[in-house]
This record gives sequence, C-alpha cells and structure tokens, in this order.
Amino acid sequence: MTKIIIGNQKMYMDKEDVLSFVNDIKSYDKGSVPVILCPTFVYLDYYKDVCKVGAQNVSINDNGSYTGEVSASQLSSLGINYCIVGHSERRNFQKETDDEINKKIKKLLEKDIVPILCVGEKKEERDNNLTEIIIKKELEQDLKDITRDNIDKIIIAYEPIWAIGTGLTPTNSEIDETITFIKNYLKTIYNDVNVTVLYGGSVSEKNVDELNSIASVDGYLIGGASTKFASLSYIIDSQK
Ligand code: 13P
Repeated sequence: MTKIIIGNQKMYMDKEDVLSFVNDIKSYDKGSVPVILCPTFVYLDYYKDVCKVGAQNVSINDNGSYTGEVSASQLSSLGINYCIVGHSERRNFQKETDDEINKKIKKLLEKDIVPILCVGEKKEERDNNLTEIIIKKELEQDLKDITRDNIDKIIIAYEPIWAIGTGLTPTNSEIDETITFIKNYLKTIYNDVNVTVLYGGSVSEKNVDELNSIASVDGYLIGGASTKFASLSYIIDSQK
C-alpha cells in the first residue's frame, strides 16, 4: 500500500541547500505517491510549485501584535495546506503545552489547514509500559472539543521521542501495536472514524523497506532523511 510521505525539514538547511534540494525534487517523478514537505517558514515559498507544502508551527493567535509569530490566516494566504503541531522538540524546547497545541489545531482547522499532530513517549515511559497511557493523555488534551466532523481532517504522527534523530526505532510489532492503539482509541471516541496515522523517528533509506511491511502505518513523518534528496527519493520510490 502506498504510504504518505511527509518531510519535517526542521531548522536544517541554509538557502543554498534548499535551492539545490528544490531543484532536484522539481525534476524527479514522484509518481502518485503523496509527498508533503515542511521547511521552515522562510523557505515555504520555494517549495510551492514542486510539491504539497506544510509549515512546522503556527501561532495560537489571529493576526495582530505578536512579534515573530505566524498565523493560520497568513499560512492560508500563502496557499499552505498542512502544518505540524505538537512536535516533541517544541514540547521540550519551547515548553509548548497540550492546551496550546489544542488551540493551534483549532486555528488551523478554521483555515482548512490539515494539522499533523505529533504524539509519543519517552524511553523510560516505554520501558515502564506507559506508552499507551501517555499517548491517550496527549490525544485527549490535544483534541479537546474537536468534533466528529473535524477529526478525519487531522493527521496523527506517532513519534517515539527516543527514536527521533537517534537511529533507534521500535520493532515493527511495537509500532503496529501503538498505531493500532491510536486508531482504535479514536474509533471509540469518534464513532468508528478512520484517522490517518503516520510513524516518525529515524525513518531512512536504510530501514524503510522493513517498515513498509507494517500495514497499520499510513505513512511516515521523516526528519533528517527528508533533507537529503537521495534518501528521500529512495523512500518515495519504495512506495511505487
Ligand atoms: P528523524 O527522522 O530525523 O529521526 O526525525 C523524526 C522527526 O522528528 C520528524 O518529525
């Protein structure tokens, strides 16, 4: 089954790197594989004509006096259709709370931008069998007051924090179990809804063939490997 490929390019590339990357993507045939790339705000415009584009963050506020922030309305006016929210790096470094993440999701939905909501556990939480409890708590708080009409407009990304940028991944059966847990939890809350759930954390050209066999995984949220054309194109080709 073809999986959705989303690249979270974080704060990795300078302009020269971006121009060369965009040039490579432009002349590459993605076939029918859905590819969404999420560069930092300053590069959004460079990607617009070559693929679907997402932002990595959005303000909890509407347009106004908020220096350094970017609103959902501004993203929408640029034609941006996706936005990552609740990434563990923002939860950790910017101390982003579940309440703020919930507000951001609502702002994005108002502007018809698809939120890509990240959830996941720390290593010690997995070791102590707390993964499902942690994820349920995040989903409950982040999706507070989100209605049945809106839930399937949201993409969920399961990203174990300890797998991000480390080269470590859970086993295929651990990934399958957690993704199935997320899907079943949302089905219970939202009357049998089917939500798209991605896996993220050290996905690369080295392990994608093995990960592809997990049927419950609808796609990948890829960090480091999404900034290298050779790695990203290998991952996309593996879906054809
Ligand atoms: P890496 O693929 O670099 O581990 O990052 C994953 C991630 O955080 C995507 O959002």
